[in-house]
Amino acid sequence: MNLNGKRVLVTGATSGIGLATARALAAMGAEVWGLGRDEGRLQALRDGGLNGGQALAFDLLDFSAYRAFAAGLPVFDAVVHSAGVVENSPLRYFSLEKYQRTVDTNQSAPLLLSAELARAAKLGAGGSLVFLASISGTSIGMKGIAAYAASKAALVGMAKVLALELAPKGIRVNCVSPGMVNTELVAGATYLSDEAKRADMQKYPLGGRYAEPREVAGVIAFLVSDHSSFMTGQNLTVDGGYSIQ
Ligand SMILES: NC(=O)c1ccc[n+]([C@@H]2O[C@H](COP(=O)([O-])OP(=O)(O)OC[C@H]3O[C@@H](n4cnc5c(N)ncnc54)[C@H](OP(=O)(O)O)[C@@H]3O)[C@@H](O)[C@H]2O)c1
Repeated sequence: MNLNGKRVLVTGATSGIGLATARALAAMGAEVWGLGRDEGRLQALRDGGLNGGQALAFDLLDFSAYRAFAAGLPVFDAVVHSAGVVENSPLRYFSLEKYQRTVDTNQSAPLLLSAELARAAKLGAGGSLVFLASISGTSIGMKGIAAYAASKAALVGMAKVLALELAPKGIRVNCVSPGMVNTELVAGATYLSDEAKRADMQKYPLGGRYAEPREVAGVIAFLVSDHSSFMTGQNLTVDGGYSIQ
């Protein structure tokens, strides 16, 4: 795929799926602007080459800073919202604080960032927005992560609304819903023990394994590219067949 001439903003670009996406898009010729918090990782992202793009430090929970942040950005052809968190919180240990933390990062941040970018006219005509949802909440349930599942299901609903609102400008809005992917988010997940993860992997029809981040990045690149020019409001599942069983 050739993404020459496309300028793409990627959140969560310092780790996992976002990092693999930033790398894949840059390799396909896109000018990549990567967003994260960790300075060391942002420097590594810069060192990897962004084709004239930048690695930006920004905390997506700092909602009051969004307007000024968006005003300082260039116009983008695509935005990939990959930043996300998961927290183990079974019903007995549920708290509003934990719920809010998850929903703020996974659901409110991508909606607010999209709104500020649209208001500041930073989404180019004919562009593409991609939200990282999950099979969790959209296709399946997993114990312990109600807030996460709720935030991901919300993204799929939200994308359909934004798809209609932005269609007159030719801007497409789609979601990608991975199953489990080998990233720090999964390595650090406490809602599954290591033993449970090993057993869970066996249930993935394609290879009895979790996905690698680049296998999700390829689908994101397709949605960023003009190859998906007539797709909007959709949710693409990337789970090795896990959820069709
Ligand atoms: N891994 C999976 O199995 C899986 C499955 C389905 C869906 N997903 C979704 O895919 C997306 C990426 O997941 P991942 O596995 O790649 O996660 P990851 O490796 O843990 O990376 C998370 C990224 O989000 C950034 N981030 C988190 N909170 C932030 C904040 N407040 N402000 C700015 N950046 C913030 C982190 O930046 P810093 O490190 O710089 O702070 C990091 O770059 C998430 O939305 C996740 O829910 C993942």
